[in-house]
Amino acid sequence: MFRVIDGILHVEDVSVVELARELGTPLYITSKAKLEENVEAYKSAFPNAEILYAVKANNNLTLMRIIARHGFGADVFSGGELYMAKLAGFNEILFNGNSKSDEEIEMGVRAGVKFSVDSLDELHTVSNIAREEGVEVEIALRVNPDISPKTHPKIATGLRTSKFGIPWKDVIEAYQTAMDLPNLNPIGIHCHIGSQIKDFEPFVLALNKLFDLVLKLEEMGLKIEFLDLGGGLGIDYTGEGCPTIEEFAKSILPVYEERIKDLKSMPKLWLEPGRSVVGNTTILLTKVNAVKEGYKNFVAVDAGFNLLIRPVLYQAYHRVAVANKMDKPVEDVYTIVGPICESGDVLATDRRLPKVEKGDLIAIFDTGAYGFVMSSQYNGRPRCAEVLVDGDRWFVIRDAESYGDLISKQRIPSYIL
Ligand code: LLP
Repeated sequence: MFRVIDGILHVEDVSVVELARELGTPLYITSKAKLEENVEAYKSAFPNAEILYAVKANNNLTLMRIIARHGFGADVFSGGELYMAKLAGFNEILFNGNSKSDEEIEMGVRAGVKFSVDSLDELHTVSNIAREEGVEVEIALRVNPDISPKTHPKIATGLRTSKFGIPWKDVIEAYQTAMDLPNLNPIGIHCHIGSQIKDFEPFVLALNKLFDLVLKLEEMGLKIEFLDLGGGLGIDYTGEGCPTIEEFAKSILPVYEERIKDLKSMPKLWLEPGRSVVGNTTILLTKVNAVKEGYKNFVAVDAGFNLLIRPVLYQAYHRVAVANKMDKPVEDVYTIVGPICESGDVLATDRRLPKVEKGDLIAIFDTGAYGFVMSSQYNGRPRCAEVLVDGDRWFVIRDAESYGDLISKQRIPSYIL
């Protein structure tokens, strides 16, 4: 899906040099075929599971619509994500979140979606709002399984110390409360242990803990219909390899099949992948404004942490290439920096690349997840466009912002005029 023709990087059949000429840079470019390959990989690896796409990873409507059309549901984490997921056409929606406002809960209840409830306070709020609306709401409780995945601490979410989920020691009591409160139907268990996880052991541990819990809940008279193991499968950012979706299935499905035998009910397995669906579908294309030999060989490009914050926030590694010189030999070691007025605005450090010159195009790989969605207008930089490539056709799926967009929501009180 990403290939080299005559020394030029192509997304499917479209040259990125052509795209840069037509649309300018920076530019997020997504391969539709790659996205569909990932979606299909999940469907064939987990034929009986319900797969909810984690909208937070990339909420572009076109991409979400493609994912929805393949039969995925959606995991949403805010009223805004719920709004967009509905527009994209997802049917099954789970409303997640550790701090939903009453207004968001009301919106979700009215939309008829399921909730993953993160606290006792929320349990009461959902029950109250459901009663006011005269409906019954199907819920899962987000439990904190106290499991440590080997990933960056900022994206480990199932630790005892994390803000997410009902503490393991309080879970049974919380289900009892859910059973006692009106207008709630507790039918699920939800956990999410973290993101960019490349080792399956923590998933297996978490799944076993969920099954232990179902056994206890069955004794209390509850019928659990789904076990949601969350998202978190890692992708291969470095090129050193990473377990596949299929291998992921092979490690957890046997545990699921074995443990379900002990149960009276037949809870369905739910998953909430984000990164592994969209991460490797997209590149961020950025142009070199200047090359400077300083403390390091700095390559200053037109995208910075305003458009891709992962390297700065998590010291994340993204592969980079000189997109118009893919057949040229390595000549030097370069550090790619953005245009933001902060010395931390570094996208890639000490990379061996062909000779880089002003005007060259740098492709930053695997930026489909947590890329555009985490962008900002910092330093007065409008956000860039997004493009979808399908074979030899391409479509702008989000226009670049203008300078006007930088001020469109601002007001100047009249006495200051
Ligand atoms: N479900 C829940 C409840 C989540 O909190 C998340 C991610 C997912 C599913 C999807 O996880 P995934 O399959 O994408 O790993 N901005 C960070 C990642 C934050 C992940 C937050 N939660 C990054 O750029 O690495």
